[in-house]
Amino acid sequence: MEYFTTTSKASNRAADCIIVGVYDRGTLSAAAKDIDSASGGEIGKRVKNGDVSTKVGEAAVLNNVPGVRADRIVVAGLGKASKLDQAAFRKACAAAVGTVSKTKTRQIVNFLTLETVDSATPYYLARATAESIGDTLYRFTEMKSGKKPPVMPLKKVGIAIAKRGDAKRAELGARHGDAVNVGVSLAKDLGNLPGNVCTPGYLARTAQTLAKGNGKLSVKVLNESEMKRLGMHSLLSVTAGTAEPAKLIVMQYKGAASDAPVVLVGKGVTFDSGGISLKPGPAMDEMKFDMCGAAGVIGTMATVAALELPINLNVLVPAVENLPGGRATKPGDIVKSMSGQTIEILNTDAEGRLILCDAITYSRRFKPAAVIDVATLTGACVIALGKHHSGLMSYSDTLADEILAAGIQAGDRGWRLPLGEDYARQLSSNFADFANIGGREGGAITAGCFLGKFADGLDWAHLDIAGSAWHSGARKGATGRPVPMLAELLLKRAGALP
Ligand code: BES
Ligand code: MN
Ligand code: ZN
Repeated sequence: MEYFTTTSKASNRAADCIIVGVYDRGTLSAAAKDIDSASGGEIGKRVKNGDVSTKVGEAAVLNNVPGVRADRIVVAGLGKASKLDQAAFRKACAAAVGTVSKTKTRQIVNFLTLETVDSATPYYLARATAESIGDTLYRFTEMKSGKKPPVMPLKKVGIAIAKRGDAKRAELGARHGDAVNVGVSLAKDLGNLPGNVCTPGYLARTAQTLAKGNGKLSVKVLNESEMKRLGMHSLLSVTAGTAEPAKLIVMQYKGAASDAPVVLVGKGVTFDSGGISLKPGPAMDEMKFDMCGAAGVIGTMATVAALELPINLNVLVPAVENLPGGRATKPGDIVKSMSGQTIEILNTDAEGRLILCDAITYSRRFKPAAVIDVATLTGACVIALGKHHSGLMSYSDTLADEILAAGIQAGDRGWRLPLGEDYARQLSSNFADFANIGGREGGAITAGCFLGKFADGLDWAHLDIAGSAWHSGARKGATGRPVPMLAELLLKRAGALP
């Protein structure tokens, strides 16, 4: 996508489409006011007669507005002026773009960026514009035969700025937003692909393709015998029931000369049937999304590589399929993890932690600055937080605060849950060092405690994205989260934010 900034008046701007806003009780945004007076009161009239809603998330297209140069004016509801925050701004942009998504619009200029949105800078408003457009125009049609539904042929996005001095930062915001879109789209694609296509091998090939021709990014893929030699028996226990070969994908991006890398670990269960502890039938298809942690960290790598950020980033993806079978791991089986700790597998459906723990142990070889694992880990997290916040757990307040702040800034929020001995005790086992489940109470937290047992001495955090990684129902599909949150964190660490 091409982005530009403009200081011209909305009524003077030639474009296929212009976005302006209207607040509750019909208060017009600055640009809407300009168009209103140029057109002899067209906007005010249509707010009054109800053609235009002032609610956030609703928008109306006005064609052939007299006295203005643009072909279409989209009026987006902005709600209460005092409540216009970045989340509402994104929602308004998305609604506006959604209303013209079936048209032949090639160029859009967003004038909502002139409004006061909390304390958001021109940089963040430009970035939010780019990101919400990317999110709205995303389509997954790869698996459909025949004619694909039309998506608007958008080529150019203009960002209105109040003064020339804002141009540089707004352009940077748009460029960063565009790169976040690259990562989010990749994460959505990987998540939406079915389990018979997006296998561990497919994830590995995707990682290798990303690295092709990129001198800063290298990829290594470990096979099962290599993992066996490393002692990853916990990881390998999950793949025992399937014919699909497991992979450990190791991506290394070197954008800085010396700094210790951030390591992102993503759960890559390409289908989770539960194994011998088989899941019930309803909605089991959604367990193709059980690799959204992997998709999120590979997507984040795509964003970082696109921007060539001056930072070192490693991505680890333990990728497996969890199926029952004659050789599958059974409840009661005991395995030795790469760390040397033994695990009693009381439920083969608590498999995510079994692959992540060995990947976390593997991350130690990089002497990481921080390790963040990302996983669709527990149904309990969805019960605790719903689908709005990702669950965040860490023994490090500093790292947790950094991640939460990045999430707020990126409009991709996390919420911290506690960890600690009281919860960890629920994992006790009569036969091994500990068990892989800790009962129904605090299920997201005991899963976090399990992983924490492998993160001793690391600056580690765990993100449970079981609720946030995909939508169910009519909008069934991957969300691309937590790419925006992780991208923001890495942009900050790289010193790339204005
Ligand atoms: N992939 C699931 C978690 C999940 C379930 C995510 C539903 C989103 C929606 C995970 O592997 C799992 O099965 N977890 C079990 C753990 C339990 C056996 C302790 C769960 O949450 O039920
Ligand atoms: Mn499971
Ligand atoms: Zn799972």
